[in-house]
Amino acid sequence: MTTPTEQDRVLIFDTTLRDGEQSPGATMTHEEKLEIAEMLDEMGVDIIEAGFPIASEGDFAAVSEIAKRANSAVICGLSRANFKDIDRCWEAVKHAKRPRIHTFIGTSPLHRDIPGLSMDAMADLIHETVSHARNLCDNVQWSPMDATRTEHDYLCRVIEIAIKAGATTINIPDTVGYTAPRESAELIRMLIERVPGADEVVFATHCHNDLGMATANALAAVEAGARQIESTINGLGERAGNTALEEVVMALKVRNDIMPYRTNVDTTRIMAISRRVAQVSGFPVQFNKAIVGKNAFAHESGIHQDGMLKNPENFEIMRPEDIGLAASSLPLGKHSGRAALKAKMRDLGHDLADNQLGDIFVRFKELADRKKEVFDEDLIALVGDGTDAA
Ligand code: KIV
Ligand code: ZN
Repeated sequence: MTTPTEQDRVLIFDTTLRDGEQSPGATMTHEEKLEIAEMLDEMGVDIIEAGFPIASEGDFAAVSEIAKRANSAVICGLSRANFKDIDRCWEAVKHAKRPRIHTFIGTSPLHRDIPGLSMDAMADLIHETVSHARNLCDNVQWSPMDATRTEHDYLCRVIEIAIKAGATTINIPDTVGYTAPRESAELIRMLIERVPGADEVVFATHCHNDLGMATANALAAVEAGARQIESTINGLGERAGNTALEEVVMALKVRNDIMPYRTNVDTTRIMAISRRVAQVSGFPVQFNKAIVGKNAFAHESGIHQDGMLKNPENFEIMRPEDIGLAASSLPLGKHSGRAALKAKMRDLGHDLADNQLGDIFVRFKELADRKKEVFDEDLIALVGDGTDAA
């Protein structure tokens, strides 16, 4: 197994603007795509898949402009296995300081049926198309779509062909989110061991989240030797989405003790890009989404709030500042206790004596039984005149 730099470095490939935008209804405008690409570049993402240039004039224009503007990220475009797609992709990405052509074809029995190609004919097509891409660009990624449902012997055969034709990255898509962590690891390990030339290329993992295992599958692939993770901000993507960038990056940071791999991502920029992608795609982030959900750093119950006030490590495995969030929150509700109420009142300018706190705490609980969340105005009203602001 080789890696572009060091054994422990994992490349982060973001496909928010391609696979993410393929979510029904997630279309972004040209300006919004440029803005997201700039944020990805600034936060240290290694490769940005900026779009599918043959898909539309708009995609072509966005990929070309992102390619012209990118500072350090590799700019990649997607293309099917034909010369027309690949040429169009090259026309768009060639402006980049570091361009990449990504070309793919479905290799599983189901997907081979779509173009109706025999196994041999498909193998020939892979050789021709990857060679063509490599003649245009020295950075070529090849993907056997639906790799996790492709026969192992055939997968090894076509990957060997793609490597011989000049592919520099071999991406292993779990297109329908079908694999599971152990199988994901075993597949990557098998390919690296069996395919001649595997040590000359980077293996990538591209997981979908249909069974909720995309993050686990991607990390398992890394442990088996993959050195590029394909992901999207907020896990945006077809159906149940792709591996969420923020999840894999933070998992590698927080559990570096057992997964000793590094990324180049500045994690303090995660929250800002998550919010912006949610806005421009129109896909809100679920409240309990790992890392970036509204509740990911919020604690309501009395035991948790008390523990947090004593030492945040009691209930948080990462600091909110690590992802660019100003602070954790202790929203007050019916599960909250005296310690949090007292602390909140102090923040609001009311340093309550114990006898005052007792009375207010009783009235606060009555109110909290009626309301999902008790807001600052409610609390101020409780101290002020004994009524709530609800
Ligand atoms: O999920 C998938 O198979 C893809 C390929 C085009 C890489 O997105
Ligand atoms: Zn995909």
